[in-house]
Amino acid sequence: MVSPPIILDATEHHHSLTVAPPPSGLALRGTIRVPGDKSISHRALMLGAIASGETQIQGLLLGEDPRSTAACFQAMGATISELNTEWVQVQGIGLGNLQEPNTVLDAGNSGTTMRLMLGLLASQPRRFFTVTGDASLRSRPMSRVIHPLQQMGAQIWCRAGGYAPLAVRGQSLKPIHFRSPIASAQVKSCILLAGLLSEGKTTVTEPALSRDHSERMLRAFGAEVLVDPETCSATVVGPAQLQGQHVVVPGDISSAAFWLVAAAIVPDSDLRIENVGVNPTRTGILEALTLMGADVQQENLRQVAGEPVADLRVRASTLTGCTLSGDLIPRLIDEIPILAVAATAARGTTIIRDAAELRVKESDRLAVMATQLTRLGAKVTELPDGLEISGSTPLVGAEVDSHTDHRIAMSLAIAALSAQGTTTIHRAEAAAISYPDFTATLQQICGM
Ligand code: S3P
Repeated sequence: MVSPPIILDATEHHHSLTVAPPPSGLALRGTIRVPGDKSISHRALMLGAIASGETQIQGLLLGEDPRSTAACFQAMGATISELNTEWVQVQGIGLGNLQEPNTVLDAGNSGTTMRLMLGLLASQPRRFFTVTGDASLRSRPMSRVIHPLQQMGAQIWCRAGGYAPLAVRGQSLKPIHFRSPIASAQVKSCILLAGLLSEGKTTVTEPALSRDHSERMLRAFGAEVLVDPETCSATVVGPAQLQGQHVVVPGDISSAAFWLVAAAIVPDSDLRIENVGVNPTRTGILEALTLMGADVQQENLRQVAGEPVADLRVRASTLTGCTLSGDLIPRLIDEIPILAVAATAARGTTIIRDAAELRVKESDRLAVMATQLTRLGAKVTELPDGLEISGSTPLVGAEVDSHTDHRIAMSLAIAALSAQGTTTIHRAEAAAISYPDFTATLQQICGM
């Protein structure tokens, strides 16, 4: 009998995932789908909650992060039906009508929930809110949104250094033009949401363009939104009117990224991933893989509810190292851990720069990927703002740790697929933040 390549071992608090690819090799073949886009799922729940009338959401991500968003907005008066991927109904309570919750709002592990929600809370006159999150989120910087909100007149209290728990007393805010020092969709979206109730134009200018799902969805819900891609600026004209909509959430390209890399580096693979969002502010991963010599094709490109969607086909190929930096980084910001795995299989040196933001994600992703990939035998040097990886290095199974970061857990599982011998990933349950079925899909494609 052949032993299964994937074993999940659960203790009371943590799961470990053991991956033991057969020595004879393992080609990844077939057709799969990935869960709904996390960024779009958060925004659909939030805009649905603050709009007038009903919003229907198809394809919502059922991960723990959108569940945190749903619970927060339910606590503030929105009625949200049971979460499922078919249809979720949100009964909006109307702009400016978020109720004062009688308990602390818990954003869990989700930076998007905390930062976007903060813009809305700050602009609800006379109401008082307290917000917290898990240990990871309580160590992530909130001053990047607190400072511009304070420029708008917001009253926010935080721990020293700008950390949650936070307290907010809602105010009428004045519009500003905020020139953000970082390209961050969470910062941009927070300020645009805060500007919805202000009289006049609230503008955010970024050093490089970050994901534009907020701009697209705000417009679809009826807000006047002006964008200038030349100057990387987005403006919302307030006070806005938002009307509930029908939102179709495409598959998450950040989740597809794990399979794109897996099929690119595991010999003889040929995988199709259907229904993936290919918004140009998110497709840096496709450009990076193409630059490395991967065979990735977009097929059946179409528009679904205001977002471009395609099926992706990827076939194994020989990869070469490349340099990833500059304006490309915000367009692949969440894919750097899995690109680091691709780099271990690529010939030559891969240099990732301008990615210091990774140090303030769910974990310090530069430090964690450097230490964990090194344990698997990769040659990785940590840079202040990136990674330098020399390849190709055959990986060897070892014990590694996700540091309870979902994207690290899944990246290490893909590294394990191409390693020789057995790898155990500790705290692998983190994957459920953005991809609850990750292990099931891993098992499925390994058995195809
Ligand atoms: C997100 C924006 C990005 C990304 C995060 C989701 C969003 O964060 O890393 O996973 O939905 O707006 P930053 O805006 O902080 O770069």
